[in-house]
Amino acid sequence: MNSVSRTAEQYDRRRSQIEQYFDRTAVQAWARLTSDAPVSGVRATVRAGRESMRRQIVSWLGTEDAARATAPESRLAGTHLLDAGCGTGMLSIDAARLGAKVAAVDLSATLVSLAAERLPEDIPADAIRFSSGDMLDPDLGEFDYLVTMDALIHYSPLMAVQALAGCAPRVRRSMIFTFAPANPLLMTMFALGRLFPRGDRSPAIWPVSLATLTRLIGLEPALRGWRIGRTGRVTRGFYISQALELVRVPEAPAGASSAKREAV
Ligand SMILES: C[S@@+](CC[C@H](N)C(=O)[O-])C[C@H]1O[C@@H](n2cnc3c(N)ncnc32)[C@H](O)[C@@H]1O
Repeated sequence: MNSVSRTAEQYDRRRSQIEQYFDRTAVQAWARLTSDAPVSGVRATVRAGRESMRRQIVSWLGTEDAARATAPESRLAGTHLLDAGCGTGMLSIDAARLGAKVAAVDLSATLVSLAAERLPEDIPADAIRFSSGDMLDPDLGEFDYLVTMDALIHYSPLMAVQALAGCAPRVRRSMIFTFAPANPLLMTMFALGRLFPRGDRSPAIWPVSLATLTRLIGLEPALRGWRIGRTGRVTRGFYISQALELVRVPEAPAGASSAKREAV
């Protein structure tokens, strides 16, 4: 078996564990965490952290270059956005309010139906298209933006980067994702979690350093036309997550390099 098919097999296996977890084991807890219902102190810090992270990601959308940072209230009008691993759809709603047409996809059919049920009345019926399935499905279409908040944290760094590379040909402007920044505490928890045979019942989070991610992104041929943009960490109690933006580098107009050569 070559390394490409081995990684694809690992991805499929991991994806079905994650689907099982978010569609069955944790579906009630996740529905509650993403609602206004009271939660324990620890979960309240996670909820507050996730809220800050979502606000940070949304503030980056449509502002990847200064020229686009105008008309803040409708700055995503006319754009298409993929919310990859949308859960109960909170980020999709924020993006739709800024004018984006959103495709919201998640492995968990249960969370997707909950997201559709929770859709606020001010969101036009055609603003968000929900579906259940894999974010890598090319039938989802083409987009200006891809956001994937706290979804790729459940894959190994290599699988996460390969997932971004798989989506990249269908994204025109930027991809924003979060990762669990490696620190000694998270690394110890991760190592301990691996010692428990039943630990794979819940999909562990895979911490990674920004330096390792940057290296993996640099090695990925499908991400060659992309540059690393903004990054920002959110730490609230038990919630530690970092967002990273990848921005597509505009292609030079045909003949630009030869014109430059002639001018020298
Ligand atoms: C921690 S939840 C975050 C949900 C949402 N992004 C949010 O921040 O509220 C991660 C979600 O990613 C979804 N997910 C993981 N891998 C996925 C994949 N390959 N395609 C689609 N969804 C995926 C899971 O089913 C889960 O609902």
